[in-house]
Amino acid sequence: MKLLITGGRGLLGSEFLRAARERSWAVVAPSRAEMDITDVSACVRVVGTESPDWVVHCAAFTAVDAAEEESGQAMRVNRDGSANVARAAAKAGAGMVHISTDYVFDGAKGSPYVPQDSMSPLGAYARSKVAAEEAVGAAGVDGDLAPQTTGAAQLIVRTGWLYGAGRRDFVDLVLGRKVTDEPLRIVDDQWGRPTWTRNVAESVLDLIVRGARGIVHVNDGGEATWYLFAQAILEESGSSGKVDRISSRDFDAAAERPLYSVLDFAATEFELGRSMVPWREALRTYLNERGRSESSE
Ligand SMILES: NC(=O)c1ccc[n+]([C@@H]2O[C@H](COP(=O)([O-])OP(=O)(O)OC[C@H]3O[C@@H](n4cnc5c(N)ncnc54)[C@H](OP(=O)(O)O)[C@@H]3O)[C@@H](O)[C@H]2O)c1
Repeated sequence: MKLLITGGRGLLGSEFLRAARERSWAVVAPSRAEMDITDVSACVRVVGTESPDWVVHCAAFTAVDAAEEESGQAMRVNRDGSANVARAAAKAGAGMVHISTDYVFDGAKGSPYVPQDSMSPLGAYARSKVAAEEAVGAAGVDGDLAPQTTGAAQLIVRTGWLYGAGRRDFVDLVLGRKVTDEPLRIVDDQWGRPTWTRNVAESVLDLIVRGARGIVHVNDGGEATWYLFAQAILEESGSSGKVDRISSRDFDAAAERPLYSVLDFAATEFELGRSMVPWREALRTYLNERGRSESSE
């Protein structure tokens, strides 16, 4: 098995790289300079030359608040760039994993979203990710690039609330603050599933092996607010840091976020033949591993 990973230096892409190497799969992760996803000819050239079995597309414009000001750039990278990657994958006869987000939903449903629910994005980032899902699907079915003729397959993976090694994330934000006395102000009215990138990468590679296709939801188990997640980070790491709960209105972020973006992953669990790890257990494992690697440095 050979993978080509876009965004391989990012939070999630770096975990895919690690997971693929651990399985002794061949893997390449071109940098942005080597394969800017907004450049279709670069995508076609690099994917064609590398000829992977699967492209795992993690590269994206991920700054949710900045996207409100830079909506054009978010669309260029997320919609157009994803379409470029999908076309390049289809042309090379490679399967494509497209990483999407729980933010394709507005949260109004109030119960976990299944893959078949209609998308209803709230902000510019979310709109660009909805457009990306649509563009990836369309790139797989138009004209000479049809997956039926190339044998290419697509797996659209929605996930969210990610943390892990590789890039500064919410865990770093919470633990970084423990050196000061200032309590962090954390939103307590948005619900989601905190998820370790390691578990997403491992599940998705297992899904590829099992022949999964279409839209799948992948997260760790259980639900939390950002405030509950922050409290758990402090407790599990034995920190005396403090967090104060605030509402989304008090936080006043540029982008509106769904209040309840919990994804239903029953179909994914069925496909994998196992249950997702509860988020608190995954967090404990991650923090223990992180503590061991920090103390050995
Ligand atoms: N983080 C989350 O909580 C979360 C939640 C839901 C969904 N997702 C989705 O998961 C995927 C991965 O997110 P992440 O958190 O790992 O993002 P990330 O850490 O911000 O990494 C994004 C990667 O994309 C690369 N990139 C950006 N523009 C590019 C371009 N034009 N050409 C080539 N590469 C480009 C970046 O390259 P540089 O290294 O050069 O900057 C970086 O390596 C994204 O699709 C995101 O929407 C993430």
